[in-house]
Amino acid sequence: MSEQIESLLQKTQHTKDELIRLLSVQSAHETQLVLDKGLEVKAAHPGRKVYLRGLIELSNVCSKNCYYCGIRAVNIKVERYTLSTEEVLNAAHFSWQQGFGSLVIQTGEQKSTRFTSQISSLLQEIHKHTNNELTITLSCGEQSQETYKEWRQAGADRYLLRIETTNKELFYQIHPHDKNHDFDQRMNALADLKHAGFQVGTGVMIGLPNQTIADLADDLLFFRSLDVDMVGMGPYIEHADTPLFSSAHLLWSPSERFRMGLIMIALLRINMPWINIAASTALETLDPLGRQKGILAGANVVMPNLTPVSNRRNYQLYDNKPNLDKDASLSTKTLNEVVSSIGETICLHESGNSLHYLKRTGLF
Ligand code: 5AD
Ligand code: SF4
Repeated sequence: MSEQIESLLQKTQHTKDELIRLLSVQSAHETQLVLDKGLEVKAAHPGRKVYLRGLIELSNVCSKNCYYCGIRAVNIKVERYTLSTEEVLNAAHFSWQQGFGSLVIQTGEQKSTRFTSQISSLLQEIHKHTNNELTITLSCGEQSQETYKEWRQAGADRYLLRIETTNKELFYQIHPHDKNHDFDQRMNALADLKHAGFQVGTGVMIGLPNQTIADLADDLLFFRSLDVDMVGMGPYIEHADTPLFSSAHLLWSPSERFRMGLIMIALLRINMPWINIAASTALETLDPLGRQKGILAGANVVMPNLTPVSNRRNYQLYDNKPNLDKDASLSTKTLNEVVSSIGETICLHESGNSLHYLKRTGLF
């Protein structure tokens, strides 16, 4: 049996059936074969390097009600906050000084023109205060094409918008079925982002209630067909104050969701060798060595959290999110040690652009 897996792993592009076969490996030995191949392909392409992005959770105000997310609009237990410009600039400055090279600004989805302009001026301020040496990724949800263009012009380089699942039926099991949560609109937003000239990232959650191996294979094929530059994906983790919590009995065990998270990273690396793949915080939530294991399966991006510690408990998308009380410098120091201990190098003072993006735009 392992011979069949080994021979499938020689391929650089997999069909849906092949992906299903590879996603179905069960034994520790076959799982390791898949993960080792992810690392081998990473070593031969972007190399055994890890890029850091300082993560700023700018605001937990959100107009949406995704059934899985702890900061959904109707969760009154969450104290809503928006960081001040000064707090953001401090975090950006810290990132710059530490040599992270890049920032991610994440928020709940807000659509007011006040919010749009706030992001634009923040982008400009950050560039001004960091000598234009940071690349900035936004993760602020679905917006109009005009807004995407405005933010791109104001200095955002990359955009992350997860499709969450490419199975439309499953999408509507984890979101309300209304005009605020529309599958086709989300797909269109990804096209708009590309059109606006962003390096585009998307992603999915792994191990959702009722999600199948075939769904995960479709997700991988979707990333390839959209020709994405970056992917952030991780295991689904239940949150007690959300509607999806009532389906917790349908879930794979946490260790199985974790294992599938690693296998997804490895298979994606094999099929899209040049893209940036993040080792998600959700992996670290399920296993204290989650980030390292993600990197060793093929991920090359880590996002240390720079959100002020006092705000972090209010940005809990899922239960048991780690590092709620650690300050950024401590996390950074730890990350440095951790990454070198597994034979990888942290790249400081580099933007860490997706090589896939540079290739598709003729810059590499
Ligand atoms: N478990 C795992 N990931 C989650 N996200 C939101 N809620 C959860 C959860 N309960 C992810 C979604 C979203 C990103 C910001 O966080 O994929 O796009
Ligand atoms: Fe809002 Fe994003 Fe959470 Fe959905 S996943 S409720 S859009 S913060």
